[in-house]
Amino acid sequence: MAAPAPAAAAAPPIIQIVDLHKSFGDHQVLTGINVEVPPGSTLVILGGSGSGKTVLMKHMIGLLKPDSGQVIVDGEDIVPFGPEALERVRRKFGMVFQAAALFDSMNVYENVSFPLREHRKELGEEEMRALVKEKLSIVGLKNVEHKFPADLSGGMRKRVGLARAIVLDPKIVLYDEPTTGLDPITTDYVDEMILDAKRELGVTSVVISHDIASAFKVADNIAFLSQGVIVDQGPPAKLRHSEHPAVKVFLQTWFGKN
Ligand SMILES: Nc1ncnc2c1ncn2[C@@H]1O[C@H](COP(=O)(O)OP(=O)(O)O)[C@@H](O)[C@H]1O
Ligand SMILES: [Mg+2]
Repeated sequence: MAAPAPAAAAAPPIIQIVDLHKSFGDHQVLTGINVEVPPGSTLVILGGSGSGKTVLMKHMIGLLKPDSGQVIVDGEDIVPFGPEALERVRRKFGMVFQAAALFDSMNVYENVSFPLREHRKELGEEEMRALVKEKLSIVGLKNVEHKFPADLSGGMRKRVGLARAIVLDPKIVLYDEPTTGLDPITTDYVDEMILDAKRELGVTSVVISHDIASAFKVADNIAFLSQGVIVDQGPPAKLRHSEHPAVKVFLQTWFGKN
């Protein structure tokens, strides 16, 4: 019998983690992580507090080295890379942290243009103004350049943080707990921002969260981290009906009351 025709080759993943192990002393945090992120998709890493989500994300940009395993970014295993090669890899990433981490003493224009001053020294002031305006418009903000972080709502600060994260045109955007500690309306606003960034920029995104509602809203795929491994992963509709006990218990806290 003829072999079945091969399926059309899927685009290779932008990030692929292969059998990654990481301990701190005798504390085994990650014990065999396998996960991949297709180009242009959003992966949400969901898991309880202290499950190792941030540790996993730090491996993606080479801030931590695994004890064993591979971290393949855009076709290269970055694990053996030294500081210079990692610096080049990190330019592919934009990062949005929990606290928007804006510089309070700088206005929005100075905050968003900051990476340009570091990495695009050839640009003139007018070109920088135009780029900042373009990125602010992508995150849905207009005429806020002169405002200071203290004058902005929590959701707007997150958007400014994202504008800064995308100002160097990264391929990948990482969000570590972007909605933690926000009220429900601001959380919605930030979820919309993540969806907008994907639509407008076509970026690949990895979002760390313990917020189930946000995860199900923004994810193309969800990977559930528990006890050092990804115990289940797939599109939200599949995870929703996971048979894994840890996932069921975790989701029950949300879907049980909704
Ligand atoms: N640099 C470090 N040194 C020692 N232990 C660490 C370090 N970073 C994280 N850990 C431990 O790894 C575990 C997972 O942490 P983390 O990834 O921050 O969890 P979360 O899922 O909440 O993001 C925690 O027990 C934490 O204390
Ligand atoms: Mg964390």
